[in-house]
Amino acid sequence: MKYVIGIDLGTSAVKILLVNQQGEVCKEISKPYPLIIEKSGYSEQNPEEWVEKTTAGLAELIEHFDGDVNDIEGISFSGQMHGLVLLDQDKEVLRNAILWNDTRTTEQCKQIYEAVGKQTLLEITKNPALEGFTLPKILWVKENEPEIYQRAYTFMLPKDYLRFRMTGNMHTEYSDAAGTLLLNVAKRKWSSELLNLFEIPLKLCPPLVESHAYVGTIQSEFASQTGLSEATKVFAGGADNACGAIGAGILKDGKTLCSIGTSGVVLSYEEKNDLDFDGKVHYFNHGEENAYYTMGVTLAAGYSLSWFKDTFFKNEDFDELLKDLNQVSPGSNGLVFTPYIAGERTPYADSAIRGSFIGIDAAHEKKHFVRAVLEGITFSLNDSIELFRSSGKSIDSIISIGGGAKNEIWLQMQADIFNSKVEKLNNEQGPGMGAAMLAAYGSGWFTSLKDCADVFIQSAKTYDPIPENVKVYKEIFAVYQQVYSQTKSLNDQLKALRK
Ligand code: XUL
Repeated sequence: MKYVIGIDLGTSAVKILLVNQQGEVCKEISKPYPLIIEKSGYSEQNPEEWVEKTTAGLAELIEHFDGDVNDIEGISFSGQMHGLVLLDQDKEVLRNAILWNDTRTTEQCKQIYEAVGKQTLLEITKNPALEGFTLPKILWVKENEPEIYQRAYTFMLPKDYLRFRMTGNMHTEYSDAAGTLLLNVAKRKWSSELLNLFEIPLKLCPPLVESHAYVGTIQSEFASQTGLSEATKVFAGGADNACGAIGAGILKDGKTLCSIGTSGVVLSYEEKNDLDFDGKVHYFNHGEENAYYTMGVTLAAGYSLSWFKDTFFKNEDFDELLKDLNQVSPGSNGLVFTPYIAGERTPYADSAIRGSFIGIDAAHEKKHFVRAVLEGITFSLNDSIELFRSSGKSIDSIISIGGGAKNEIWLQMQADIFNSKVEKLNNEQGPGMGAAMLAAYGSGWFTSLKDCADVFIQSAKTYDPIPENVKVYKEIFAVYQQVYSQTKSLNDQLKALRK
């Protein structure tokens, strides 16, 4: 039996999957690491931590592997998007990575619009200037830490840095490059127009390859630390959302994904690179050659739930926290939550907005708050679905993955709020499986990612919307949608008080 490894370098942990030729997960290891939050709006990680935890995870996996390591043919990656890693000429990391959920760059986003113009920016990058993206972070370092910027030789995205440490070779690939705001998404090359405008040398950008491209083998030091064979082939990998889509079989037009991790996304496969969503949803290169996807993002999806648990019920696990969910009917007895605890992306690109509980009543108990949090996260994702629908897409079947697919009541809630069939996969593994599929395709096990998906991915259960719940949720969603505009100015005023 042959195997591949999928490494998902997430925001809270690295998850490593050993997968066989039938797509079965033979071993799974996860190693957490912390966020470094120096002040409100900042979010960083030490890239060394990614390397250490991945090395330890791989070593553990190989230690318990009773086959021949030479049968592990390929490795590929999925990575948290947009994070800025800066390296000097000696390929040493210059500062902590600034992550996708860091919102310090509002000023730089304004400068980008002023310098480029919104229309031109959309024509080139297909996306608006958002705090989370990489270019504003580069400009922030240039402005605020000029001595570091002077020494920068190349920038890398998180999983590309990890792969560099394993192979010694520097690359990125289209799906992650698309989230930098420096890629001409349709032409699939770094935009000389943008680089020139911001006086960023092309050599700062790593070379571009396809997600399934072979980019080297394991360096001997990394092989000896982990037990991997030096002959193991390494393939470039993809952005976590692209890999989540691959791992859920979102590989043809009409397929839609709802993925709830730290952030939450609704994502739709696109064959074309010339549709116009006016920047309201993200439009990125897929991990499949010459394919694209559009996507709406809820910044704090699973993060809202983990924040709620850690803040108020630290000693409980998620099962305990969610155990009374079905004792509360849809609508949480008039309690509405908006999950803007770290700002929002879709449909409001607003780093200053913050979350709310609206309608707190003396009769509300813990279980109402818990249900309201899940409903609020799902309403926010529904905002993206409504955007897609209003642009003419028909969305009547959605594959749900991640935290949102782990709870039956939440799955039914998604079907009711989205007013769409929601499908759960058998043994769903999220972006790590997409990474393993890229390695399987790259290793020549299949002639396409679609062929691989036919073998690796099976549907487990479908949830149909329940008409009376759909009706209740439509009414509450109309209330939910007003909370943003009604709390916007209040949050702008409170911003000054946040440290
Ligand atoms: C996408 C985004 C997040 C991160 C999470 O634009 O910022 O989904 O990729 O890892």
